Amino acid sequence: MVTIKTPEEIEAMKPACRHAADTLVMIEPYIKAGITTDDLNDLVHEFTLKAGGIPAPLNYHGFPKSVCTSVNHVVCHGIPSNKKLSDGDIINVDVTTILDGWHGDTSKTFFVGEPKVRARKVVDVAKKALEIGISIVRPGATLGDIGHAIQTYVEGERCSVVREYCGHGIGRVFHEDPQVLHYGKPGTGLELKTGMVFTIEPMVNVGKAAVKLLGDRWTVVTRDKSLSAQFEHTLVVTETGCEILTVPSS
Ligand code: MF3
Ligand code: CO
Ligand code: CO
Repeated sequence: MVTIKTPEEIEAMKPACRHAADTLVMIEPYIKAGITTDDLNDLVHEFTLKAGGIPAPLNYHGFPKSVCTSVNHVVCHGIPSNKKLSDGDIINVDVTTILDGWHGDTSKTFFVGEPKVRARKVVDVAKKALEIGISIVRPGATLGDIGHAIQTYVEGERCSVVREYCGHGIGRVFHEDPQVLHYGKPGTGLELKTGMVFTIEPMVNVGKAAVKLLGDRWTVVTRDKSLSAQFEHTLVVTETGCEILTVPSS
């Protein structure tokens, strides 16, 4: 069931969404060769508690950490560890904050030092894929319109869209209806209405689309070991288009 959120509920979600976005701003200067993803996890964890929030990933279906950190060929749900970042890596940091019972979910892929050509390419394409998806959102457009626009752009750039994971409705619940696929056919699927709140979060691979799940039951990697990048926003459908909720406070 896809819920329509009232203007009051949307206002109530904003602090959680803003905090998740602020967390990505906070973390950016720490993304350097030599830091471990555990260190990033601790920074996110403390930053969230200090704001009176709860890091939604922690213990979510057994996820062991407070943030997802997905390096290079890791597509999503990377578990922070004692492994150090190296120059030339790319890393997606996916933050979900619970504040006053509401969720805000946003992610960004960062460069560690200077990127090589393929790293820059996949990150640029993933970023633009999210922007294109967002540009489609308005009442009357369909979920298929969003997926189609993203898929057409990404494949036109000779990259591929991961099929197994998608955007999602969000609110008091982390993952709720609808599922927001990042591929599809125009005019198909749910018609968007003012007050729907969901994420768009395309995962883009520089190689083939196929992924596999590692033995830890969380880490998703590209089968061909090619680089993968992702950006994510939480947004609300408005009368005229949409409003991105995961914007930083300054
Ligand atoms: N933040 C991810 C998403 O965008 C979900 C992470 S679930 C976790 O939907 F358990 F791995 F944290
Ligand atoms: Co997320
Ligand atoms: Co999400």
